[in-house]
Amino acid sequence: MSVSRPGSAPHTVPATPRVLQVGPLKDSLAETLRAEYDALVLPSGDAGAAERAEFLAAHGADVTVVVTSGRTGVDAALMAALPALGAVVNFGVGYDTTDIDAAAAAGVGVSNTPDVLTDCVADTAVGLLIDVLRRFTDADRYLRAGRWTVDGNYPLTRQVSNTRVGIIGMGRIGGAIAKRLSAFGCTISYHNRHRVPDSPYRYAATPVDLARDVDVLVVAAAGGSGTRGLVGADVLDALGPEGYLINIARGSVVDEGALVTALQQGRLAGAGLDVFVDEPNVPVELLRMDNVVLLPHVGSGTVQTRAAMEALTLRNLDEFLATGRLVTPVLQPAARV
Ligand code: 8YV
Repeated sequence: MSVSRPGSAPHTVPATPRVLQVGPLKDSLAETLRAEYDALVLPSGDAGAAERAEFLAAHGADVTVVVTSGRTGVDAALMAALPALGAVVNFGVGYDTTDIDAAAAAGVGVSNTPDVLTDCVADTAVGLLIDVLRRFTDADRYLRAGRWTVDGNYPLTRQVSNTRVGIIGMGRIGGAIAKRLSAFGCTISYHNRHRVPDSPYRYAATPVDLARDVDVLVVAAAGGSGTRGLVGADVLDALGPEGYLINIARGSVVDEGALVTALQQGRLAGAGLDVFVDEPNVPVELLRMDNVVLLPHVGSGTVQTRAAMEALTLRNLDEFLATGRLVTPVLQPAARV
């Protein structure tokens, strides 16, 4: 079945559509889905496989649209258990937990929430970068432990302004990070799948080429199979013992084992991480390092941005239910005959 493109016939939504929540969502969004859309909730978490299978046997065939987040998504097995599914409405810009190939093959549309979170995620990248280089979090620990009075001044740190920054992934978020850091006098270069036309920043053909010439490497590439392990030991070694890594994208883009080893061996100066391979689990080795700053995936986590993401999620849901199309599609639903 071919994938619908803008302009092609819309997906036909049944007269009595069924909405399914997959995975935890922002409380107010989950409540709206329950109260205004009479949404079902897929058993998850503590619920065993048997309970889930029973639920899908009872309701799977009725589900028209799934609302989920980038943390849960819809894999190929779940998609196969939802034969009437027309769309996956994703809360979040990243949709790597949803099987896009399976969705395309089944004519299922997928939407995300681009643009509305760009500023907050870019702010987070810059905040992490400043924190790691200037060691504010560690200096805060130093003060609280009473060491200022006992040991004297905190050791000198690394200047942020005028550093050379390399960005992997020059999309919306990468661009917003570059813009902010340009105002700090930083020299920006980037690696991207394709060179960005008319970009003012220097292009590097590979992540290793990029890492070799910068002080800080910021990962802002989409997750998924195309970028898995893109930042491996070779890239970290090119960044070198005076280099820093910042990741606000997806844990999977970085070889986490290689990162831990490089930090343990002093082959990297420090790291600022908002994302991890197996969230919410973080490698225990990192917890003991003072030259890393660790955040529990809070990049878009402000009241304002999460409200905007929620509103855009509901706009996609409403548009799909009304017209069979999505407002911010990654993939438009295919027409069903
Ligand atoms: C959210 C994110 O934390 O948008 C994304 O891709 O990673 C974050 O904004 C997440 O999607 C919410 O579940």
